[in-house]
Order: sequence, then C-alpha cells, then structure tokens
Amino acid sequence: MPSSRAFRAAAAAAVAVLAVLPASALEDVTARVTQTSAVAATASRGCGACHSQELSLWINHPHSRFLVDPVRDSRGVLARWGKGVPGWKLYVKGAFGRGDVTRAFGVLQIQVLFRRDRDGHRLLPAQWNIRRKRWEPLSDALEQVRRERRTWEASCAGCHTTGFDPGTGAFEEPNVACRACHGDGTAHAQSGGRKPVLRPSSLTPERRSEICGSCHSRGTDRRTGRPYPVGFTPGDSLERVFELEAPVLGRTTAFFWPDGTERLAYMEYQGFRQSRHFEEGLSCTTCHLAHGSDYPFNLRRRTVDLCETCHRDASALTPVHRGHPAGKATCVDCHMAMTNLAPREAHAHTHTFRFLEPSAAAVRAGRPDSCTVECHRDRDPRWASGAVRAWREKR
Ligand code: HEC
Ligand code: HEC
Ligand code: HEC
Ligand code: HEC
Ligand code: HEC
Ligand code: HEC
Ligand code: HEC
Repeated sequence: MPSSRAFRAAAAAAVAVLAVLPASALEDVTARVTQTSAVAATASRGCGACHSQELSLWINHPHSRFLVDPVRDSRGVLARWGKGVPGWKLYVKGAFGRGDVTRAFGVLQIQVLFRRDRDGHRLLPAQWNIRRKRWEPLSDALEQVRRERRTWEASCAGCHTTGFDPGTGAFEEPNVACRACHGDGTAHAQSGGRKPVLRPSSLTPERRSEICGSCHSRGTDRRTGRPYPVGFTPGDSLERVFELEAPVLGRTTAFFWPDGTERLAYMEYQGFRQSRHFEEGLSCTTCHLAHGSDYPFNLRRRTVDLCETCHRDASALTPVHRGHPAGKATCVDCHMAMTNLAPREAHAHTHTFRFLEPSAAAVRAGRPDSCTVECHRDRDPRWASGAVRAWREKR
C-alpha cells in the first residue's frame, strides 16, 4: 500500500495531468499507462483526485489490484521460489522460473501466472495457493485452458481488465477501474465535474446488478463468442451483448447443479437472478459496497448483522431455525453454502440464498449441501437429512 502522502501526491499529479492536457493527449497518457499495475497514475487515480473517499475505498478492494505486472511491481507476485518452498520441487523446478512470469493475477485465494508468447499470454503450469503458501498444479479447469493453448487475451482478459479490445489485445486500464462501472468519464473529469457521468444509483436495481454481472457471471459474447462481454456499457442491458449460461433443471451441466445452484466460482449474478431477493428489488450493492468496505467481502455490514437488517425475527421463522442451537450457525452458513468443491479452484458461495437440502438427489448429483459442506464435515448427508426431517416433524 502506498503511504497516504505518496498517494495524495500521485493523485494530485494525475489531476494536474488531466487539467492541462487536451483530450487527445490525455488518451496518449492513458494508453501509455494501460499495461502497468496499481502503482501507476491511471485514469482512476485521476477520478480519485476529486473523489478521494471512493478512491481510498477502491484502493483496498481487490478490484483495484488483482492484476500484477512483475516488471513494475515485483512484490505483487506472491509466489516464492527455491528449495524448501512447498511444492516448488514437484511442480515448478525445471518447468519455469521467476523470469518467465510476465503477468500474474489473483490476490485472495489463488494466484495464477502467465508467460508472454508470440500471440498472447499463456498460463504457466503451476499456481500459487495464497492461503496455504504453496505451489500446486493448476485446477483441472485451468489445466484444460493451458492444454488447449488458449491465451489470457482470448479467455480471461475481458473480466480481469477494463475496456479490453479483443482486436488489438490492448486495454484501457488493468483491474476493475472506475469506468467499468461508471462508463467513460473523460468529459466529466475534464470539465471539473460539470459534464455528466453515469450514477449507478439512478439505475433500476436490475440494471445496477447487471454492471456487476458483466464479470460475475458465465456466458458467451454474442458477437465474438468470447467467454466475457465485449463492449458492454454500464447502464445498458447485459444480455443484449452477453448470452448467460442457464441451468437445465434436473441435469448437472458444466455450470450448474440439477437444482440450478451455481457449480463454479464467479457466477454470483446467475445465482442472485434465481433468488427472491432479485424479485424483491434488491441489487448486489444492497449488500456489498461497490467501492469497498472494511468488512469481509466488502459487505455493508458485518456478515452476521447484514441479514438481520431486514430479517429481524428470522430465528423463529421455521422449524429448522428453531431447532438449531441459537448462535451455533449463521444465516450465511445455511443460506449461502459453498457450492464448488473442485480441488484447487477458488471457492464461492451460492447467491441463490437457498438452503441446500441434504437430499438423496443432491448426493446422487454430488452437489454439496448446507449441513455437511462446512459445519458438519465429520457427518454425511444422510445424517443431516435425518436431523432436518426430525426438526420439521416436531414443528
Ligand atoms: C476535477 C474534479 C473531478 C474529477 C477529476 C472527476 N469528478 Fe466526478 N464529480 C466532480 C464533481 C464536482 C461532482 C459533483 C457534481 C454535482 O453534484 O453536480 C462529481 C460527481 C460525480 C458522480 C456523481 C454524479 C452525479 O450526477 O452526481 C460520479 C459517479 C462521478 N463524479 C464519477 C467520476 C469519475 C468516474 C471520474 C473519473 C473519470 C470523475 N468523477 C472525475 C468532480 C470531478
Ligand atoms: C464495481 C463498480 C464500481 C467501481 C469500480 C466504481 N464505482 Fe463508483 N459507484 C458504483 C455504484 C454501484 C455506485 C452507487 C452507489 C451505491 O449503490 O452504493 C457508485 C457511486 C459513486 C459515486 C457517488 C454517486 C452518487 O450516487 O451519489 C461517486 C462519486 C463514485 N461512485 C466515484 C467512483 C470513482 C472515482 C471510482 C474509481 C476510483 C469508482 N466510483 C469506482 C460502482 C462503482
Ligand atoms: C470488470 C469486471 C468486474 C466488475 C464490473 C465487477 N467485478 Fe467484482 N471482481 C472482479 C474480479 C476479477 C474479482 C476478483 C479479484 C481477485 O480475486 O483477485 C472481483 C472480486 C469481487 C469481490 C470479492 C471481494 C472480496 O474481498 O472477497 C466482490 C465482493 C465483488 N467483486 C463484488 C462486485 C460488485 C458488487 C460489483 C458491481 C457493483 C462488481 N464486483 C463488479 C471483477 C469485476
Ligand atoms: C466472465 C468473467 C471472467 C472470466 C472470463 C474470467 N474470470 Fe477469473 N474471475 C472473475 C471474477 C468475477 C472473479 C472473482 C471471484 C468470484 O466472483 O467468485 C474471478 C476470480 C479469478 C481467480 C481467483 C483469484 C483469487 O484472488 O483467488 C483466478 C485465479 C482467476 N479468476 C483466473 C482466471 C483465468 C486464468 C481466466 C481465463 C482462463 C479467467 N479467470 C477468466 C471473472 C472472470
Ligand atoms: C442479500 C445480500 C447479498 C446480495 C444481494 C449479494 N451478495 Fe454477494 N455476498 C453476500 C455475503 C453475505 C457474502 C459472504 C458469504 C460468506 O461469508 O460465506 C457474499 C460473497 C460474495 C463474493 C465472494 C465470493 C463468494 O461467492 O463467496 C462475491 C464475489 C459476491 N458476493 C458478489 C456479489 C454480486 C456480484 C452480487 C450481485 C449479483 C451479490 N454478491 C449479491 C451477500 C450478498
Ligand atoms: C435489504 C433487505 C434484505 C437483506 C439485507 C436480506 N434480505 Fe433476505 N429477503 C428480503 C426480502 C424482502 C425477502 C422476501 C420476503 C421474505 O421472504 O421475507 C427475502 C427473502 C429471503 C429468503 C427466502 C427466500 C425464498 O425463496 O423464499 C431467504 C432464505 C433470505 N431472504 C435470506 C437472507 C440472507 C441469508 C441474508 C443475508 C446474507 C438476507 N436474506 C439479507 C430482504 C433482505
Ligand atoms: C440451520 C440452518 C439454517 C440457519 C442457521 C438459517 N436458516 Fe433460514 N432456513 C433454513 C431452512 C432449511 C429453510 C426452509 C424452510 C424449512 O425447511 O423449514 C429456511 C427458510 C428461511 C426463510 C424463508 C422462510 C419461509 O417462510 O419461507 C428465510 C427468510 C430465512 N430462512 C432466513 C434466514 C435468516 C435471515 C437466517 C439468519 C438469522 C437464517 N435463515 C438462518 C435453514 C436455516
């Protein structure tokens, strides 16, 4: 993290640049800084010169810093090399070295690394597990990307940068910049705030969530066939440009369990769309602060307080609530269970807010259930199913 003084200086420098340069020159400056990591004076820093509160939150959100250019920011590469580093000898030694890494991303659970090739960046064959501090093989899904020689540009860049152009492989800014959610604010910035810029709070909740959904979902770009939307403008309809994967009820697909629950990470939008919360007019930013917050997952409140803001007397609502020892399980444990257990993948929690029933059908499909996935790991779904049934019968 830059010190606040250095940071203010950078912001002031950026706004000075914005103030004195004509529009064309501004584009040049933006173009020159596109490939850099969070340390550079980006357009977003320029916005932050007048919007310091939003900037200081965003700076601490993974949105502003998951993409790392090792040349400019060697500390951003979290992996370690050498004998004694867990997994290094097995998966890395002889395969690639520190010098091969030209791009890295991920700051929460897993960091993946790329090497520059003739036609783009390609995945290196091992990943760094951030929490366990060890090397491990790529997850099966990413190993497939690597084997099929799909590039970062073709498969990933649209959601891990802002304003990615598949034609040239260039992007306007690394990470999730202000413009990913506010659109092009150049005229607004140059006019000192007089010209308008998109205010997401003026959108319908659905349109507002679609901004988040442009990255937190899985689908296919209608025009280019890429797995990310190309040329999506915040405030517009996402599905006009992006065909979302949809569940097939009763069947396990690459993306969903038979009951429609998400099977993979970064599908929060598709889970949320199935929920009562969506129907009731909630949006992603009802619970998450868009720029960032001090709470885990950038929530508006502490997780345990969040649900009770609206669901005051939930603990007496149903037999399962009443039957469960008070204070032993939280709303999130039962209604936002983890749904993807594939090894070495980033884990995510369902945004359908459904209780994942420990049913025979779930066991057959291999879908995790709310009881045994995290809390009762030592038990099996049959035990859980019996416990739930007993509560329901007691009434
Ligand atoms: C030179 C100062 C300055 C810069 C640079 C600047 N803004 Fe603003 N911005 C303002 C002012 C002043 C307002 C308040 C306008 C008002 O209340 O009518 C504003 C308002 C906003 C609003 C609320 C819109 C509204 O209608 O109230 C958003 C969103 C916003 N700015 C985003 C941005 C983004 C994104 C950038 C970078 C592209 C940016 N700003 C750059 C001065 C600036
Ligand atoms: C991930 C999406 C996202 C990013 C990135 C983002 N914003 Fe926002 N911003 C929002 C949303 C959504 C709102 C509406 C407030 C809300 O719902 O919490 C908002 C509100 C604002 C407002 C207040 C406007 C109002 O509604 O009164 C300003 C100013 C602003 N953002 C500036 C910025 C700046 C500057 C950056 C970059 C440093 C930035 N935002 C990055 C999504 C984003
Ligand atoms: C341009 C793509 C993009 C957009 C738009 C976007 N995100 Fe993200 N978001 C990401 C990526 C990529 C990550 C993962 C960063 C990482 O794990 O290193 C992420 C991470 C997150 C996280 C995890 C943070 C944590 O601390 O665990 C939350 C929460 C989140 N986004 C919410 C939102 C919300 C809410 C919106 C809309 C207001 C939104 N995002 C819009 C790409 C995007
Ligand atoms: C449709 C948008 C999209 C595409 C395409 C995409 N990602 Fe992501 N990725 C995300 C979002 C959003 C997250 C944040 C996690 C979440 O939402 O659950 C994320 C998270 C990650 C993480 C976890 C980072 C962490 O801090 O733990 C890794 C690693 C990752 N992506 C790698 C890739 C790779 C490699 C590709 C290309 C093969 C790719 N992603 C393609 C949207 C996307
Ligand atoms: C009703 C509140 C609520 C709404 C609405 C909501 N979230 Fe969440 N979200 C949460 C909570 C709570 C967590 C943390 C779950 C946990 O602690 O296990 C979370 C976690 C996340 C994470 C971290 C990865 C994961 O899945 O665990 C991301 C990314 C995220 N939400 C994005 C979104 C997006 C995008 C939307 C809108 C499509 C959204 N959320 C709507 C409450 C909400
Ligand atoms: C901003 C208010 C708000 C927040 C915050 C909120 N909810 Fe809700 N929730 C609602 C409304 C409104 C409904 C629909 C009416 C009802 O069932 O009470 C609902 C319904 C539900 C349902 C019933 C779903 C169904 O299909 O019938 C569950 C389960 C639920 N919420 C869980 C949660 C959890 C877990 C959290 C915290 C992560 C949470 N809610 C946070 C407003 C909220
Ligand atoms: C031990 C697991 C568990 C916990 C903890 C839990 N729930 Fe539930 N919840 C369920 C189950 C199961 C259902 C479905 C109804 C049933 O089977 O009795 C449900 C149903 C609901 C409903 C819909 C009620 C209806 O009448 O349709 C809401 C709303 C809800 N829960 C909110 C919450 C909130 C808010 C919390 C946290 C205070 C919470 N739940 C904690 C398991 C749980």
